[in-house]
Formats: sequence, structure tokens, C-alpha cells
Amino acid sequence: MAGARIKPLVAGNWKMNGLAAQLAEAEAVRAGMGSGSPAADVMICPPATLLGRLSSALEGSGILAGGQDCHSEKSGAFTGDIAAEMLVDCGAAAVIVGHSERRAGHGELDRDVRAKASAAHRAGLTAIVCVGETAGERAAGLTETVVCRQLEGSLPDGATAANTVVAYEPVWAIGTGLTPTAEDVARVHRSIRGALEGRFGAEGAQMRILYGGSVKPSNARELLSIDNVNGALVGGASLKAADFLGIISAYEA
Ligand code: PGA
Repeated sequence: MAGARIKPLVAGNWKMNGLAAQLAEAEAVRAGMGSGSPAADVMICPPATLLGRLSSALEGSGILAGGQDCHSEKSGAFTGDIAAEMLVDCGAAAVIVGHSERRAGHGELDRDVRAKASAAHRAGLTAIVCVGETAGERAAGLTETVVCRQLEGSLPDGATAANTVVAYEPVWAIGTGLTPTAEDVARVHRSIRGALEGRFGAEGAQMRILYGGSVKPSNARELLSIDNVNGALVGGASLKAADFLGIISAYEA
């Protein structure tokens, strides 16, 4: 079975949520995971303002920290932007790029996402590259066409299983409580796997493909057991430790 030996990743995307008090939730995730070796890698991507403190709070826990976006350049006159190297400097191991909220709200195109993913690689970060169709594209039967076009344009040539994670997030499923059927998820993830293998060969066969969009404790077990689903990118349900732990526990026997 494709991807059978891939260690899954459960990544929480806090988006623009959380003041210092929210760090208590990360501490609670740490406490809730105990000291055993978990079946999945776990990551929290807080707002940039909390990244340094979150990394310090999670030191030695095995829980990874990640950024939510980065600029393509290393430094320079880009007011308000954050370089991938700066995320590393704050303790990040990864960065989300091309989230649909950045594509829609900041006009990011595939080529921008690709430049950001390359910047992540340059800095030594894993790039979590997001793709996904809108409701309209889905209704028009264009899901796989859109997703494969985004992958082709957003992934840099140097992508490997170690430095790149793909997150399939149907735009209409984000924050809505709606999810595709298990069959739909299986079909899209199979297409993504095929595209990754076609372009990156053995690396593409081992790259993690996360599902994202309204993942919660009650649906995690079903979604995460689908072939070629190698973990989850979790928004709303990652803000509460109990919910996030409930999702992580989908990987426990
Ligand atoms: P959601 O968000 O889990 O709140 O739907 C997922 C995401 O945007 O990464």
C-alpha cells in the first residue's frame, strides 16, 4: 500500500488566534502526550508573535513548532514580513505556505508559494504546501485538475520527502464543519500521490500528504485511516488541547 510506512504528522494551525495565555494549551498538549514515543509527529504553528515562546515551552517534548507563512527573501526592505531564516531563529522546524487564506486574502499565486517553499528549504525548514479546490471548482468537476495544477506550480524542483509535506485542504471544508466523503478524500489523495510520484519518483512516494478542513476528534479516526492520508492539518480544533489530543489519539491503537 502506498505510503504505508510513512510516519504521520498532525499539525495544528492556530491562524491569527492566541495571546500569551494560549501557550497554556500547548503546555497541556505536552502534558497530555506524556513521555512515550507517539505514533505521529506533532506540530503546532502559532502566530509568529508566539513562536519563540512556544518553541521554548515545548523544548525537549518532541512537539515541533512551525510558522504560518514566510517571505521568499532572506532579509531586506519588506516591512512586516518574516523570513524563513527568522522562523528557524525562533525554533521553527517547518512553515505552512500557500494556505488558501493566504492565496485568497493576499493574492498569493502558485509561483509565490513555490518561492516561499524554496525559501523554507534554503533555511532548512520543512515546507507544508497547501492545495485545495473551492466549492465552485468542485461543483464544476475540477477538483483534481485544480489540485494537480497547484501542486505543479507550487512545489519547487528540490522537494523531497524530508523537506516537503503536502496538505490537501478543500477550501469549502475549512472552518465550515463540512468534510468530503472518505471516498472523495481517497480519490484526491490518490491523485496527489500519483502526481508526486510522477514528478519526484521515490521521494514523491514517501512525501507526507495531510488532509485538512474541519478535522475534529469525532471524524479524525475515519479521515486519518484513509489510504495516502499521512496526517492532518488542523485549524479550529487545534486551539483546545483536549480536542487536539483527541485528534492525535486517532493514531493510537
Ligand atoms: P479548520 O482549518 O480545521 O478550522 O477547518 C484547517 C486549516 O485551515 O488548516
